[in-house]
Amino acid sequence: LMQRADDAHCTLALVKPDVAQDEQAVATIIGRITARGYTIKDRVEITLSRAQASAFYAEHSDRPFFEGLVAFMSSGPTVALLLEGDDVVRGWRMMVGPTSPATARQQMPQSIRALLGDDGPRNAVHGSDSAESAQRELGFFFHPRIQAEVEEEPPTPAE
Ligand code: PPS
Repeated sequence: LMQRADDAHCTLALVKPDVAQDEQAVATIIGRITARGYTIKDRVEITLSRAQASAFYAEHSDRPFFEGLVAFMSSGPTVALLLEGDDVVRGWRMMVGPTSPATARQQMPQSIRALLGDDGPRNAVHGSDSAESAQRELGFFFHPRIQAEVEEEPPTPAE
């Protein structure tokens, strides 16, 4: 079956600077992802510059929390994961839980933000909110060649 770029088959997961240096927490997150049946196709660790964080969150530049979000996201390493799997855009967002960890603890106590999040921008993880966002955001962290490989049709057995 042809896997298309726009079919919600790939998404970006970020482990944010509040959690990325906690090896046990990262292992917990990765364990949940694979237990759910998703595949981690690529992984990169990067400390975003302020300019990179601003660009990544550009759509929120008018929000009162923007400066704090950019400062936090450029404060230390982020682990970016390229996730692949059936309906993974929606599925990963479900695993992440509500934006606010306090709300997550009330409404989705099993979610990653309920478990690992704090407050303000320190909500542990990010997930792309749509297939379109996922394509843009994956391009931010991963080389296009790697995405092209993910999107490729599997080789047809000898014809
Ligand atoms: S909205 O209204 O749906 O667009 O906002 P939302 O998707 O919930 O949030 C957009 C991103 O901003 C982060 N955020 C915050 N950062 C710092 N402080 C506060 N108060 C705050 N509220 C929201 C939020 O975590 C989103 O980033 P990501 O990385 O997608 O989680």
